[in-house]
Amino acid sequence: MTYISDFLVIGSGIAGLSFALKAARFGTVNIVTKKEKSDTSTNLAQGGIASAIGEDDSLDLHIRDTLISGSGLCDENVVRIVVTEGPDRIRELLDLGVNFNLEGGQENTFELGREGGHSRRRIVHAEDMTGQEVERALVERSLNEKNIEFYEHHTVIDLITHYKLFRQGLVSNISEDSCYGAYVLDTKKNEVKTYFARVVVLCSGGAGKVYLYTSNPDIASGDGVAMGYRAGAVISNMEFVQFHPTCLYHPLAKNFLISEAVRGEGGKLINGKGREFMVDYHEMKELATRDVVARAVDSELKKSGEDCVFLDISHREKGFIIKRFPNIYQTCLSFGIDITKEPIPIVPAAHYLCGGVLTDTEARTNIPYLYALGEVACTGLHGANRLASNSLLEALVMADRAAKAVKRDLEVRSQKPFPEEPKWDPGWASDSDEAIVVSHNWEEIRRFMWNYVGLVRTNNRLQRARSRIRNIQKEIDDYYWNFLITSDLIELRNIATVAELIIESALSRKESRGLHYNLDYPQRNDTQYRRNTILKLGALPV
Ligand code: SIN
Repeated sequence: MTYISDFLVIGSGIAGLSFALKAARFGTVNIVTKKEKSDTSTNLAQGGIASAIGEDDSLDLHIRDTLISGSGLCDENVVRIVVTEGPDRIRELLDLGVNFNLEGGQENTFELGREGGHSRRRIVHAEDMTGQEVERALVERSLNEKNIEFYEHHTVIDLITHYKLFRQGLVSNISEDSCYGAYVLDTKKNEVKTYFARVVVLCSGGAGKVYLYTSNPDIASGDGVAMGYRAGAVISNMEFVQFHPTCLYHPLAKNFLISEAVRGEGGKLINGKGREFMVDYHEMKELATRDVVARAVDSELKKSGEDCVFLDISHREKGFIIKRFPNIYQTCLSFGIDITKEPIPIVPAAHYLCGGVLTDTEARTNIPYLYALGEVACTGLHGANRLASNSLLEALVMADRAAKAVKRDLEVRSQKPFPEEPKWDPGWASDSDEAIVVSHNWEEIRRFMWNYVGLVRTNNRLQRARSRIRNIQKEIDDYYWNFLITSDLIELRNIATVAELIIESALSRKESRGLHYNLDYPQRNDTQYRRNTILKLGALPV
């Protein structure tokens, strides 16, 4: 079956829905999403949206904090754009009906939280469930928009590009590449569909599932980066994987985050002996940037051999804790931990991908008519280490800029017909009776990525990871073409691609900077490495 729209949005988090709502004013939008609409990383975002709107704050201070956190790799122009346009975008959310916490309930006076790396209180939030509240409002609005159509349980297999069609003999000229849509697996009907669109927007989120332990939801398998890479998009800075220092450590808690805002409100990190240890690592202690805090936790765990350290907020008044962190309080309580009385066991976990598909300031990729927004994109805002709560902000600002930019694309593209329909060809593929291969490879990748390409890296570990991923890639390629496609197989292929991109990028950066820490090169080397890592299919990393 073939579906046609002006815009194809891949993913239904804050980036995808913000873009869709604006683009729907002048075009039709199909949104494909892997599970239910709200199964997104946005929905799990606890902290909030950073914005320099406090009386003691300024745009320059927010810019400065972002640049410091990014360790010399932020694009200052992009930082200025996102920080400057952010406050207006947040007010738009308020107008859309997002119930942010307001100071004394006063209209437009946001209650501001504090998080690591921020020199001021500047986190606009909705209790400790900001993402969920934003997602709720955006989904509600989108459902009322006649130009928006949702397709749930649809997993994108690959992008359809001009070059791909040329290789299949479906177009004759090869002057310039461009994107026309995507092949998508309807996982309920087990049917591959073609989605044609005049503009395609990758909003598919991050890649936490590449690692054994992650705060991300199951959908975060790096699909956008992997399919962008296969289509010829430029990928940047994949070595910068952010590990959140404080995920709940409990056998039954899958991926539950203890928001950085807990440290912002005075939460202390203590080791198994009850000692506050951040004093040994950084003058800002618990409020140092996330890379510093996560490595400090990791170092304490390695020194002691214990399974977890603890985050303690129990010295704050009970009523305050319950009101400020209702979700964290209730969830921990459901695991038998009363955070008003006792410390919370925590460990670091993969949380955010700072690299991704390289874009310009309007979210355009190097492939015409293909855009990327949100975590899948690398705009230059985060540099080598994202400042907490800057990501929802980036998604909002870039979605707005992209929605303005695509108007022109739509005019140009509406004058041209779509090419002949490129049918999905399953070849000789048969039903798989070896699904176990998929789960074994999946498990193996996630484990060695955690052990060898995690918070602390060495050349040796990275080389081991490289040889493992190359073997697995061969197996997956074999498997992919021999068996009928499934959602698990698509995700496995994407995870393997993203793992390889992270490993290759990490190997090419022979220094330590931001989130990339290599014991063999413990120093930052600005002379050689104050630059982005760039990967493109067929080209070696530079
Ligand atoms: C948190 O609440 O700690 C997460 C915020 C973020 O990742 O920006």
